[in-house]
Amino acid sequence: MINAETTQWAKKILKKIDEKLTVEAKRLGGKIPYIPSVETGLYEEDLGTSDPVWWTNGFWSGMMWQMYHATEKELYKKTAELNEVALDKAFEIYTGLHHDVGFMWLHTAVANFRLTGNERSKERGLHAAHLLAGRYNPRGKYIRSWNRDRAGWVIIDSMLNIPMLYWAEKEIGDPRFRYIAEDHADKVMNQIVRPDGSVNHIGVFDPTNGELIETPAGQGYASGSSWSRGQAWAIYGFALSYLHTGKTDYLETAKKVAHYFISEVAKTDWIPVVDFRAPQEPVMIDTSAGMCAACGLLEIAKHVDEYEKALYIDAAINILQATEEKYAIWDTEKDGLIDFSTGSYHEEKWTEVPIIYADYYFVEAILRLLDKDFLIW
Ligand code: GLY
Repeated sequence: MINAETTQWAKKILKKIDEKLTVEAKRLGGKIPYIPSVETGLYEEDLGTSDPVWWTNGFWSGMMWQMYHATEKELYKKTAELNEVALDKAFEIYTGLHHDVGFMWLHTAVANFRLTGNERSKERGLHAAHLLAGRYNPRGKYIRSWNRDRAGWVIIDSMLNIPMLYWAEKEIGDPRFRYIAEDHADKVMNQIVRPDGSVNHIGVFDPTNGELIETPAGQGYASGSSWSRGQAWAIYGFALSYLHTGKTDYLETAKKVAHYFISEVAKTDWIPVVDFRAPQEPVMIDTSAGMCAACGLLEIAKHVDEYEKALYIDAAINILQATEEKYAIWDTEKDGLIDFSTGSYHEEKWTEVPIIYADYYFVEAILRLLDKDFLIW
């Protein structure tokens, strides 16, 4: 549980995060970062220019808003505002936009609106929410993922995007957005989450009637395996759908996947491997799965009885402390907070490197331990 020792630890870590992110924010100016260069250890690429529709383009801004909320430092606010404006280019690339518009604009425009009441930011958020709702298939009862010829594809990651729709419902008082989000969450819960608490990455459905056709490997090892970040998306995503709808099935699903995740990650000293059902060799780690799961576990803990809380909170603390001890990058001459994240099991390019989303969830989780976070989802 969160005792005095944990609080002391989290305060110490928050101070280090503040020092590191202050240096990074000054170094970056308005650039949107993703992965530091292997040669320099610094963020060289500005995704706001090179790839405005890239799905991770909101996470840095999300960290800035979380830190602004916690510290009131203007640097964080100004940096996030620059990122939000840079993302306006993405709205002009309609065919490049995808189901991840929630990740892109919840952490930028919606966060800004929630914290400052900026009306232009609210418009950007609603624009993105309508783009997401427009991907809904009323026969299949899901929001399609990706573009091109994948009309029937749904990926588990989508559960972290639908909070955009819950926000839009509340903002404009139109329940359509929640109906779409709930249909989608039901589909994922019933057909992508497995009965044993593990989760497929992808479900491919017949777009004319919603029948499940196949479950490809996606970013995991193989069809039928268990991509750890996908499990984490399910834990946090269903906990958030419960938060926004009060539907207990969603909380039960989040708990079921959490129990599975905890039992797997405990076997590897609280650092997740990329896929829990991949061959034992080579050992490949994905710290980002742990960081996202930690936020989900802390969210679940808010909604369960006193006697149940410890399971989720203790697991989250174990994951956070083990990861910080082994993989935090506190050197301010380098960019990135958390090392050893992996994009995809079979894609060597982004294996065991610092990736921006691990940093975001690490920051959110530390702030959650101190009750200094704000709900970005
Ligand atoms: N497709 C989002 C992720 O890498 O988790």
